[in-house]
Amino acid sequence: MSPQKVIISDQLDKTLEDAISECEHDMIFMLADETTAKCCLPVVESYGCLKGARIIVIGSTDTHKDLTSLSHVWQELSEGKATRHTLLINIGGGMVTDLGGFAASTFKRGINYINIPTTLLSMVDASVGGKTGINFMGLKNEIGVFNNASSVILDTEFLKTLDVENMLSGYAEMLKHGLISNDKMLSELLAFDVEKPDLAELKRMVADSVAVKQRIVTEDPTEKGIRKALNLGHTAGHAFESLALKRKPVLHGYAVAWGLIVELYLSAIKTGFPADKMRQTVRFILDHYGKMDITCDDYPTLLELMTHDKKNVAGVINFTLLGKVGDILINQTATKDEIYEAFDFYREG
Ligand code: GLY
Repeated sequence: MSPQKVIISDQLDKTLEDAISECEHDMIFMLADETTAKCCLPVVESYGCLKGARIIVIGSTDTHKDLTSLSHVWQELSEGKATRHTLLINIGGGMVTDLGGFAASTFKRGINYINIPTTLLSMVDASVGGKTGINFMGLKNEIGVFNNASSVILDTEFLKTLDVENMLSGYAEMLKHGLISNDKMLSELLAFDVEKPDLAELKRMVADSVAVKQRIVTEDPTEKGIRKALNLGHTAGHAFESLALKRKPVLHGYAVAWGLIVELYLSAIKTGFPADKMRQTVRFILDHYGKMDITCDDYPTLLELMTHDKKNVAGVINFTLLGKVGDILINQTATKDEIYEAFDFYREG
């Protein structure tokens, strides 16, 4: 995979101009969803470097991360006479950068693309690391490819208008990055007022967080080994997210935060994760994210959902656990009893 530049920008117009000039291109298309077309496109549309760029808009939210939207993007590129040398710029949250990345990776066997993430979740996670794709037949990210954006440009100014729920959703991935890094980073995250954030401080923390992800994906771009560290909280998290879909859908990061409770508990009982660090992190999560109510009648469904997670091999649930903060243990498993005990811990918290 070609390397990916991640740039934290104070001057989006200048940074974007430089990033565009590094990609040989004949035309530029910009992809936004209905939300970012209203609140983010106007910020960039007047930039000289985007003069003449054509705009493609798709529906917002994960429900539109599908073949219909993808086909719309391909059609707009094709009807707009895009060539192999055309550049696509994706501006939006993870849904836009994932789908746009996949559209670019497949159109005429692949054209260059640039990501401009506008949510905290997409800045610290989705837009970085080359995972592209769409949902298919009710399964999240079922179809896709690994292919890096030429550049990812982060401008934290976009966070000024982000609501608290979406801020918290992205922050869960930052907590995960702290847990897989070191005590200092985790302590700083647990002490930060994420609901009334100091944006200058947040900007520095976003840079630190994205550096963690970038270091890992550079080492293991296609998730054969250490990239699985980024799955911490996600095995249980995806099960919570899928269960919530049947009741009241939740933002991805909320499910990851609840998944972290379960997986830190498993880490504490199985791999020696310190109880004080677990309790501190769990307290932070409960205080800010609350909890999705589950009963013991939900345990078999949650276990079933975890068993069918695409990260598993031969139906054995695959966890990433921690020995301590920063001590990453991939390819761990747990018995049904241990997992049920972790659900009990979650419910009692
Ligand atoms: N979101 C986890 C990863 O990019 O591997």
